[in-house]
Amino acid sequence: MILITSSTGPVGSDLVIRLLAAGQRVRVLVRNLEWAAHFAGEVERCVGDLDKPETLGAIFEGVRVVYLISHSSQVQPLIEVAETAHVERIVRQSTLAAGFDSNARSGHSERDADQAIERSSVAYTILRPTIMMQNTRFWWAPQVRSQRLVNCLGGEGRFSPVVAGDVAAVACAVITQPGHEGRVYEITGPQLLTCKQMVATIARTIAEDIGYVDAPEAAAIDLMARLTMRPELFTALLETMTDLRVNRFARLAETVPSITGSAGRTYSDWCVANVGSFVPIRPSQR
Ligand SMILES: NC(=O)c1ccc[n+]([C@@H]2O[C@H](COP(=O)([O-])OP(=O)(O)OC[C@H]3O[C@@H](n4cnc5c(N)ncnc54)[C@H](OP(=O)(O)O)[C@@H]3O)[C@@H](O)[C@H]2O)c1
Repeated sequence: MILITSSTGPVGSDLVIRLLAAGQRVRVLVRNLEWAAHFAGEVERCVGDLDKPETLGAIFEGVRVVYLISHSSQVQPLIEVAETAHVERIVRQSTLAAGFDSNARSGHSERDADQAIERSSVAYTILRPTIMMQNTRFWWAPQVRSQRLVNCLGGEGRFSPVVAGDVAAVACAVITQPGHEGRVYEITGPQLLTCKQMVATIARTIAEDIGYVDAPEAAAIDLMARLTMRPELFTALLETMTDLRVNRFARLAETVPSITGSAGRTYSDWCVANVGSFVPIRPSQR
């Protein structure tokens, strides 16, 4: 049995489908059963809350591998639940920033969480994806749709955005194939890009001009007003963008092709698949 936490997010939900296709038994942890209604009938649905480890003991029983997507502060109690339930392996979704040096703004708590897993009695595999492409739907789509303009936090920094489905493909492979215990994998997309180049890709995809302004303060204020997220996650986002601006995320890893056998999808591929998110709202539609 494979347990996936945070199964309603983009990696978790894709991973459910991949594991079923690979013939695995899958259990998902959700906070609300209605949000798991779209999963196939054979998926076991369990209600629990990662902030309340006392709700999780029975959910971890009989589980061979946990795919753990959680906030770093939730990891230590979850390790204890996994140890008690004799889970064989934790595959943790960490972040690329967990491997940065100590001068970086982002990644410190994620590295602490990874180290807690490495010290535990449970076998582990750690995945460190870079910034995922789907974030740009939340960061930029509302501005593109309403104003054809993007205020951006990223400056001239380059990074290699990865599509959530490619992270899920790596996760499925390391869960179902032997030889990945004790390994830490960085996961990136195939291209180094600036935010400005990514906005130009959106513009080409929707065949519209989109203005681009490097305006970190305006972008932060706009995001704070629009995104409903825990305050510590918003702080983590700003720290991530600070590191992005100084090229700490400018890394390319071979994990997607070497583990999945497929070239990672490009930002252009993702834009074509998600074009509806960016098509501008015409005055007649307002
Ligand atoms: N997004 C990125 O670009 C990125 C890049 C690298 C690493 N990561 C790492 O990936 C992890 C997930 O990040 P994300 O922002 O992309 O999230 P996400 O996968 O989009 O989804 C958030 C998920 O967490 C679940 N969740 C939130 N609080 C929960 C709780 N208390 N108990 C149970 N489930 C809970 C949500 O479930 P509900 O349906 O119940 O709300 C949802 O399924 C983080 O650790 C992050 O550091 C993300």
